[in-house]
Parts: sequence; C-alpha cells; structure tokens
Amino acid sequence: MSQVRVRPAAPADAAAIAAVHCSHVETWRRGGKGEPAAYAELSLYDRWLHGGPWMSAEMYASYLRRWLRAGHVVLVAQREGAVVGEAELVENREPNPYGPALHLSLLFVHAACQGQGVGRALLKAAEELARERGCMALTTQPEQPARPFYSRVGFASWLRLREWQARAREIPLAGRLAPVPAALYPEGRGLVLRSGRYQCARHAWHELLFYLPLPEHTRLPWGRWRVESPAGEVAWVGLRAQPLEPSQCDGYVWALPQADLAPLVDVLQVQAARLGFNHVDLLLEEPEGKTMAAERGLECQGELVLWRKTISEQ
Ligand SMILES: CC(C)(COP(=O)(O)OP(=O)(O)OC[C@H]1O[C@@H](n2cnc3c(N)ncnc32)[C@H](O)[C@@H]1OP(=O)(O)O)[C@@H](O)C(=O)NCCC(=O)NCCS
Repeated sequence: MSQVRVRPAAPADAAAIAAVHCSHVETWRRGGKGEPAAYAELSLYDRWLHGGPWMSAEMYASYLRRWLRAGHVVLVAQREGAVVGEAELVENREPNPYGPALHLSLLFVHAACQGQGVGRALLKAAEELARERGCMALTTQPEQPARPFYSRVGFASWLRLREWQARAREIPLAGRLAPVPAALYPEGRGLVLRSGRYQCARHAWHELLFYLPLPEHTRLPWGRWRVESPAGEVAWVGLRAQPLEPSQCDGYVWALPQADLAPLVDVLQVQAARLGFNHVDLLLEEPEGKTMAAERGLECQGELVLWRKTISEQ
C-alpha cells in the first residue's frame, strides 16, 4: 500500500475534507430522517443534519477559514495526492490536569480507507506537533465505536463528566454582568472550563456563537458575559441554544479552579430565562456536579468520558 503523508490543511482542502466525511453517509435524506433524496437536491441545512458543517464543501469552507484564523490546526492525510483523512486540533493551555495539551476535537478517515493505518499516521503527526508546542498530552472525547481504536493507539479513559439539566429562572443576582459577544479567549488567566467540557476550554469559547451560513442557525440565541463577583473575582459564562432542541441551551463557565461555581450557575439560569430558554444543560465534573445536583434538584441527562494520551519526551 502506498505511503500516507500528513500535512497541515489549507482553505483549498475544504472540499476534499468534506468528501472524507460525506463518504460515511450511506443514504442522504430530506430533513435528516425523511425520505431518501439526491445530495444535490438537499439544502445546506438538510446536509448539516447528517453530521454538521463537514457535510458540504461550502459550509466546511466557512468553518475551516474561521478555525485556521483562530490559530487552531487541521492536519490532512494524503495518499497518492488524494486527501484520505483529517484531524482537527486545539492547543489547550488550561492549567494542569487539563493542559497544556493538544486537544483532538475530531479525527476522520475516508470510509474506503479505514483500517489501513491512516488514523494512526494522523495521530503520530498530532503527537509530534504536541511535543513541538510543549504539550504533555493529547486529549479527546471519542465516540463509542472509535474507542477500541483509541485504546490501540495508546489513549485511556481519563475524565468522566455528567450532564445535568437546570430550569431557567429569574432570581436576584449579586455582582456585575457585562455582555462580551466578540471577546478573544482570556488567555493566561489560569481559567478552567468548569461547565461544558464537551471538548476543551478554548474549543468551547470558539464554538459558542452560530457562525455557519445557515438561516436556521443564525436566528438561534446565544450569549457570553463577563461576570464580576461582589468580591471582585472575574469569570466568563456562555449559553448556546441546542439547534435540535431550541427551548434548551448548553451552559458554559470559564473560571478559576477555586472559584465558587454556585453563583455562576445562578447567572446561567437567569440568563437562560432572559434569552427565552426553558432549561440549561450543565456538563459538570464529579463530585461538584453531584453535590450541585442534589442541592438544586437537577436531572441527570447523561454521561461523557474524555480520553487522554500522555506524550513521552521523545
Ligand atoms: C476511528 C478511525 C479514525 C480510525 O482510523 P483508521 O485509519 O481506520 O485506523 P488505523 O488503520 O490507523 O488503525 C490503527 C490501529 O487501531 C486498530 N483499530 C482501528 N479501528 C479499530 C476498531 N474499530 N477496533 C479495534 N481496533 C481498531 C487497527 O487494527 C490498528 O491496529 P494495528 O496498527 O496494531 O494493526 C476511523 O476508522 C474513522 O474515521 N472512523 C469513523 C469516524 C470516527 O468514528 N471518528 C472518531 C470520532 S471520535
């Protein structure tokens, strides 16, 4: 079998990367689950419903441009000049134990090229990049079917989180709240993603707003705020509608590891009510999540596990 070459992706790779993802869709359907339809007949939103921005060259071009502008990385694997796989990575500078790490938010190999060493080659390149950047680990949140692959290439289960659902509610808040929709990630402040670790802190910040050219998304609410406690402690919180369940949103908190989470969750519940949501989902670590859930009567929605691979010096 011919050799796999891995290189950083450029905006011109968007169509080839989208093709890698589309190769996994057996049947295209109207509305994602309706009757079968030709790909060319589907709207951008119908395509998105099959797996996100990777489902069409136009959408992914916009996603990739924004991703690269933010300083994140995409690696592509090529064989005989054709793109056969890709990996998307975010440098995560959160304090120990979360970082410094290179977070793999996505890894995909063309359906016709699985089981031929492409995934392993992408991970090897990611590991070299992590080492160059002084990261101690690769982290990821693998889907169930990919877990045997991650075990095989040296990852192990690392962090278990639970998602809890809180009711949106109006209560009096202490401290100050200022909207910061367009702010850059507050680098170098020792912040930790205390709620919403679906991926990592910087990824959550980047993905909060709806930026794809989809009218179905641009009308969905989201928001980000800087919160200052009466004692002068600063944290950031964010809310983002769940596109398929728009009466609900996901709640994010970027704060110091020792900051009291309770008043920040209060802010999320209040802002959720003000934006018109019924509920806000909080993805929290144990034991903090369990304690908060008991105190507030939160309902468990499910579990999520992050995996990690420690990077050796050489
Ligand atoms: C998961 C995925 C990235 C793996 O890439 P790949 O190119 O097929 O895997 P490789 O051929 O590089 O496999 C590397 C090793 O893992 C093993 N492996 C791969 N998939 C495996 C599986 N499902 N079960 C057990 N072992 C597996 C291979 O046997 C190989 O072991 P070896 O080198 O000791 O022989 C790829 O199959 C894929 O894109 N799947 C669909 C999308 C997906 O699930 N992505 C991950 C989202 S989190």
